[in-house]
Amino acid sequence: MIQELVNDGQAVSDTPVLSVRGLCKSFGGFHAVKNVDVDFQPGQIHALIGPNGAGKSTFFSLLSKFHEPTSGTISLAGQDITRIRPEKVVRMGMVRSFQISAVFPEMTVLENVRVALQRRTGRDIQFWCGLGLLDSLRDEAMYLLDRVGIADLADKRAADLSYGRKRTLEIATTLALDPKVILLDEPMAGMAIEDIGMVSALIKEISQDRTTLMVEHNLNVVEDLCDTATVLARGEIVAKGTFSEIRNDSEVRRAYIGTDYD
Ligand SMILES: Nc1ncnc2c1ncn2[C@@H]1O[C@H](COP(=O)(O)OP(=O)(O)O)[C@@H](O)[C@H]1O
Ligand SMILES: [Mg+2]
Repeated sequence: MIQELVNDGQAVSDTPVLSVRGLCKSFGGFHAVKNVDVDFQPGQIHALIGPNGAGKSTFFSLLSKFHEPTSGTISLAGQDITRIRPEKVVRMGMVRSFQISAVFPEMTVLENVRVALQRRTGRDIQFWCGLGLLDSLRDEAMYLLDRVGIADLADKRAADLSYGRKRTLEIATTLALDPKVILLDEPMAGMAIEDIGMVSALIKEISQDRTTLMVEHNLNVVEDLCDTATVLARGEIVAKGTFSEIRNDSEVRRAYIGTDYD
């Protein structure tokens, strides 16, 4: 059952940055994402929540073009991207963190960000540029590392970072691509409690002037960070609205939230 907890037109009148219609993905006969219609307004942090197996990661894979949809359409800033290749979607400004911007363990922290910056230009810089450009990329990489608070680790091998710092580096490599839309799939997964506050603050900071969609199981994080939430269950949207609307919805509580939120 679809429950419109917020009138889509009412919350924000801007054109949606991301618009999905009738989106379906089947694996064999199994429907992982079923007929999803949703709009995401620019400049907000949106949560995607739902039980394990609900189709959240598959939905992100459809958006980032890792999977081809079985049917339906996806528009980014008004442009149909349903059949566009993943690299092109990145260049158009939608980046899935922790997947596209993977960390290379043998490179230093700085080199990782520099590679991401090169990728944004879409050229293999080694072939054609002089040292001047490499220097300027280095400066930009240092600026990004400073922004996420790990400039002091610039010369460390990525493999030697703590888990929380690795995730911070991944966020820096995502920022290097200067995305308009960031997709974060469970950014806090596996993170120590003391790192959650740090990464939350970082997500808030990097989401300014962008649109962020995040799958997040920690509902305290969702409540703290997100403007709106969409609830998926069995591949379908069961509710959307502000977090307090979602939290108080009995259907949603039954389907998902249960007793683990206080
Ligand atoms: N590549 C795949 N092949 C077959 N089934 C898949 C594949 N990817 C996901 N699924 C199935 O689709 C459902 C949704 O998975 P997923 O999107 O990972 O859920 P979530 O991220 O919400 O936990 C699950 O039942 C999962 O087993
Ligand atoms: Mg998942």
